[in-house]
Amino acid sequence: MLTKKEKIYEGKAKILYTTHDPATLIQYFKDDATAFNAKKKGTITNKGVLNNQMSSFIFQFLEKNGVKTHFKEKLSDREMAVRALKIFPVEVVIRNRVAGSLAKRLGLEEGRKLQQPILEFFYKSDPLDDPMMSETAPVALGWMTQKEVDHVKEQVWKINQLMTKFFDDRGIDLIDYKLEFGKDAQSNIFLADEISPDGCRLWEKGTGEKLDKDRFRRDLGKIEEAYEKVCKLICEGRP
Ligand code: TMP
Ligand code: ASP
Repeated sequence: MLTKKEKIYEGKAKILYTTHDPATLIQYFKDDATAFNAKKKGTITNKGVLNNQMSSFIFQFLEKNGVKTHFKEKLSDREMAVRALKIFPVEVVIRNRVAGSLAKRLGLEEGRKLQQPILEFFYKSDPLDDPMMSETAPVALGWMTQKEVDHVKEQVWKINQLMTKFFDDRGIDLIDYKLEFGKDAQSNIFLADEISPDGCRLWEKGTGEKLDKDRFRRDLGKIEEAYEKVCKLICEGRP
């Protein structure tokens, strides 16, 4: 049985532990919620359990469709076994509609449909508030090779096609979301982190009701209910 050895990283929503196997970590999901790079803090009851369940389901769906992810196995309510990776300090945001910081930056109305998805790179740094950067920056700064950037972008387009259809089939519009990638000791690249309403904007089709962390960021209430609704739609929808 896989058991936790040593805490090696504690982020805002998750903790990573080593195991007896150097290639495997345990990712533990907390109920802690933050927004605006931890300037706003709170708790969403049961969020860790729901996000573990949703992420496990989506990682397995992506794996079945040829996307390499760090997911190995769901171990318990709040824990999954994942591959040990070196995470690139880059957050990739994919936008299918205008919302959030894009709406603010360009003075556009939220909800506007795009002719094609927008892909943005951000530097993963809380002290700097995750600044946006050019996609040429990770190579220029020696964080990634050009080949790695190209591979990540290729995966991102594939993931977006799979994910928009996945959510569409479940009555949800996938507005935008953030992905992180990392590489293993052999330099193979995998999708990492989590896929949950913490890092995605999910609007209910028809009503446009927000079913994601914007309910926490914007004090809209009924946060737990929204996460539970998405979890039900994801896990009880079509495989
Ligand atoms: P943004 O509109 O604030 O740039 O966010 C775009 C998407 O990325 C949204 O679905 C939320 C997600 N996101 C994160 O998961 N973590 C972050 O640190 C940021 C800034 C955004
Ligand atoms: N993930 C970031 C934070 O926790 C930003 C956000 O999701 O709004 O502060």
